[in-house]
Amino acid sequence: MNGPVAIILAAGQGKRMKSDKAKVLHEVSGRPMIHYVVDAARGAGAKRIVVVVGYDAESVRSCLADDHDVVFATQTEQLGTGHAVKVCRGLLEGYHGPALVLVGDEPLLRPEPLADLLERQRAEQAACLLGSTILPDPTGFGRILRDAAGRFLRIVEERDCTPEERALAEVNPSCYVFELPGLWDVLDRLDPGNAQGEYYLTDAPAILMSLGRKVTALNVLSPDDVLGVNSRQHLAQAEAIMRCRVNDHWMTEGVTLIDPQSTHIDGRATIGPDTVIHPHTVISGRVRVGARCRVGPFAHLRDGTVLEDGVEVGAFVEINRSTLGEGTLARHLAYLGDAAIGKGVNIGATAVTANFDGERKSRTTIGDHARLGAGAIMVAPVTVGERAVVGANAVVTRNHDVAPGQTVVGAPARPLEPKG
Ligand code: UD1
Ligand code: CA
Repeated sequence: MNGPVAIILAAGQGKRMKSDKAKVLHEVSGRPMIHYVVDAARGAGAKRIVVVVGYDAESVRSCLADDHDVVFATQTEQLGTGHAVKVCRGLLEGYHGPALVLVGDEPLLRPEPLADLLERQRAEQAACLLGSTILPDPTGFGRILRDAAGRFLRIVEERDCTPEERALAEVNPSCYVFELPGLWDVLDRLDPGNAQGEYYLTDAPAILMSLGRKVTALNVLSPDDVLGVNSRQHLAQAEAIMRCRVNDHWMTEGVTLIDPQSTHIDGRATIGPDTVIHPHTVISGRVRVGARCRVGPFAHLRDGTVLEDGVEVGAFVEINRSTLGEGTLARHLAYLGDAAIGKGVNIGATAVTANFDGERKSRTTIGDHARLGAGAIMVAPVTVGERAVVGANAVVTRNHDVAPGQTVVGAPARPLEPKG
């Protein structure tokens, strides 16, 4: 088996979320948290990723169904993080090499710092290398204890801390690299005699040291990367940091965001240079916005939307799984769903593609340079030809295609007779 491998712990319910669904399925920037951790592990070079599932296991599995490098280990009872790693043993039997061990509730993890941890573990030839960080408010995290010379001693969980230990600001973000198979025997030695009565993974580094193995703790992680989501408050913090990160990236790439605070851009979306995004715009899912577009205020671009260069989408326009060709305008109040729209099209205020008949979705095709009047409704499936004109408030019914160049008016729409 090729390495490195990664183990991601995601079996817990997350009681502090007060939710029916598994904690790692709560979304940050529109995507379940577990996806970010899997992406970070893969980006750091993990060749095989074991995700430990337990609570709501089926939902977690199906959420990762398209990640073909992920395999699942089941932890039927949540007996602690050490026990959670232990259930991976069967899947990794025979593997010799480094294992990145992460928790599924840290959605801000990035690949680079994890690749760095792997590199340092290799250089140090350590049985365990753990990344640490200093937090202004370490509440909730395990603390790193060091001796007078600064050498790592052990991790103490907050609930097991003395008041002095609780005052320590260096914390354990649960980003470890353990050498396998050396870790397995150590997990058998974990003792649940702690405040929570659990098998703590956090005890493993000190046990390795007591066996004469090398353990290093390096303060190389940044606080942002390791924000652990244990509550809805943490979830909102993660969302805010993610938003800043993504928005900052696109501004660096030449996109103007008038008000980054109120602009929500999915991490999987792409935006071309000189596009201007106005306040209160939400871009969710895989969306591609070209160069020199103008979007918002109050626009909602949803998964599968493509805006070619120079498109303008204005206030209260929602676009879903649709393509708008170069220079097309939808400046005010429109819904466009499952539509292939050509270039230079003008879409009037409150025009709508009625793409859903209550059972299935159907497509609307609109040719280049067509014009849709205010309030026009296209009942899909339907095609409006090039340079056709659909009058204000016209209702173009299902399969009653409008021919290229033709003008239709009324409800249901009928060809407009040329004036005598
Ligand atoms: C854990 C660490 C703590 C660290 C913090 C960093 C332990 C004992 N403590 O605490 O030192 O500062 O993470 O974020 O490891 N999980 C399972 N099975 C279990 C228990 C937990 O899969 O039996 C999973 C959870 O789903 C979660 C992750 O492990 O994704 C961490 O569990 P959580 O309860 O959030 O641990 P913390 O209390 O945050
Ligand atoms: Ca946690």
